[in-house]
Amino acid sequence: MEFFYASRDGQSRKIATHIADRLAERGIVARPVDLAEGQPEPAQLAQAPLVVAVLAVRYGRHLPEAVAFIDTFRKLKNPPPLALASVNLTARKPGKDTAEGSAYLRKLISGNGLKPVLATAFAGRLNYPSYGFLDRHIIRFIMLLTGGPTDLTTVVEYTDWNKVDAFAEQIAKLCEPVATEAPSPSGAPPTVAPS
Ligand SMILES: Cc1cc2nc3c(=O)[nH]c(=O)nc-3n(C[C@H](O)[C@H](O)[C@H](O)COP(=O)(O)O)c2cc1C
Repeated sequence: MEFFYASRDGQSRKIATHIADRLAERGIVARPVDLAEGQPEPAQLAQAPLVVAVLAVRYGRHLPEAVAFIDTFRKLKNPPPLALASVNLTARKPGKDTAEGSAYLRKLISGNGLKPVLATAFAGRLNYPSYGFLDRHIIRFIMLLTGGPTDLTTVVEYTDWNKVDAFAEQIAKLCEPVATEAPSPSGAPPTVAPS
């Protein structure tokens, strides 16, 4: 498996690390790699049995390194299965945390002709004191429009960790070896495809 994330303020990295920890508990080794530190080669992606990406949103779109990564992925002739998670504050709203309900995911998926096997959006973290003056006031304006907290001392982690666990569980299921034949009547074990 190849596992990537794009993060500015650390919440997507935290989510990716959490998923990796859950996978490790099931004996699946996957180290999340920061896309800001380097982009994977197309061949690296093409050979992967599964690609997982946790990508943060800023200013209405996924981070530039996430967009660059998706651009490489979408050009693959035979792309591997893709498990996609978008991290943003809009996803704190019910219904805005699914592939259909999240405008960011819809745009990313349909705009790039992706067919992810898993796609979800996780609510991120609001941390007014850590933002610069302009960002703080832009986010405050968005919060004003969307009924969120406007007190500039607010720090809230909206991430639903049960939802992150469920996503990790679905990824783990995708990593299970696939039985290619039904068990024989003799009770012999089925043939298992190599992982
Ligand atoms: C400057 C800035 C712009 C943001 N723009 C958006 C946005 O357009 N839509 C949204 O839903 N969330 C937006 N967010 C919220 C982030 O997606 C959220 O804080 C997330 O946790 C960031 O992920 P990261 O910590 O991995 O960078 C923005 C946050 C910041 C600081």
